[in-house]
Amino acid sequence: MSNVKFYDLHPPLANLKEEVLNGLSSQPKAISPKFFYDREGSLLFDKITELPEYYPARTEISLLKEHGAEMALQLGKKSLLLELGSGSSQKIRLLLDALQPAAYMPMDISKEHLWHSAQTLATDYPDLDIHAVCVDYSSDFHLPYSPDFMAKSAFFPGSSIGNFEPVEAQKLLQRVAQLLGHGGVLLIGVDLKKDLPSLNAAYNDAQAVTAAFNLNLLARINRELEAHFDLSCFEHHAFYNERLGRMEMHLVSNTPQTVKVEGKSFLFAKGESIHTECSYKYTVEEFHHLAAGADFQPKQVWVDSSQLFSVHCLQVG
Ligand SMILES: C[S@@+](CC[C@H](N)C(=O)[O-])C[C@H]1O[C@@H](n2cnc3c(N)ncnc32)[C@H](O)[C@@H]1O
Repeated sequence: MSNVKFYDLHPPLANLKEEVLNGLSSQPKAISPKFFYDREGSLLFDKITELPEYYPARTEISLLKEHGAEMALQLGKKSLLLELGSGSSQKIRLLLDALQPAAYMPMDISKEHLWHSAQTLATDYPDLDIHAVCVDYSSDFHLPYSPDFMAKSAFFPGSSIGNFEPVEAQKLLQRVAQLLGHGGVLLIGVDLKKDLPSLNAAYNDAQAVTAAFNLNLLARINRELEAHFDLSCFEHHAFYNERLGRMEMHLVSNTPQTVKVEGKSFLFAKGESIHTECSYKYTVEEFHHLAAGADFQPKQVWVDSSQLFSVHCLQVG
């Protein structure tokens, strides 16, 4: 018998349609990065994590390998272990033996990929009780499985918190704090502010995998909605916005054009962009300040020797 249970709290297709139409109608045009992640987008993201330029994944993994035992000690054993944006559930493998969770709850918006990753994990960890939840964590949600007798802890790697505007990031952390309850512990990966060349290289890799990941958003919209984006008429553009302390990804129209989506026409001037992702970078102090606003107190933080990436352990209350 399989040790995986699936719960689908995913918003319907109507949500994609509504958000895309609203985003293309706004000025400047913008679409949430959460829509990058259909099965294709999730597989492309996995490829990004293997790129030589993409220091965040490599560095976070080395921190987890080096300090996993200490991190596990802080998180505590035998809890209901939530993971936000679990993707391929690769990083959690570095903590599972030490944590021995009572149950593991990977949560992700990318349904097919989540199902597949949970099954693979279940095969490799036949004794692990897995409750996989397809959910959009950017709005309120409940835990479909949460026995009273289990303490809860959470893992939120990949610096995905940086994809939210700071006010929204704080709201998301507040939601996590509520789910965990007083004394609950969160282990969260946060990308640090650093030199421009490293940042620019990470989001403009030589093999153009990040460009393909960005453009897949339009391909996905073509696949799932009545839409006619010509991908050759858009270009990937990523740069660091120094004033706001964030990387930005855009899809820039390389020609004047009109694109039809769900019967509505959208005009693009040459050079006009769709803003597809922000990735805020935080110093350790800045992130502590953000977390404090969500009732999280710092317990411990690990930073690599090149000061590229941080993993924070925070506690509610
Ligand atoms: C940057 S990737 C990180 C993946 C993995 N945690 C890692 O560190 O390699 C972000 C992950 O979060 C998921 N995700 C993005 N937005 C989400 C949302 N609003 N709700 C739930 N999952 C989301 C994506 O599907 C993807 O798996």
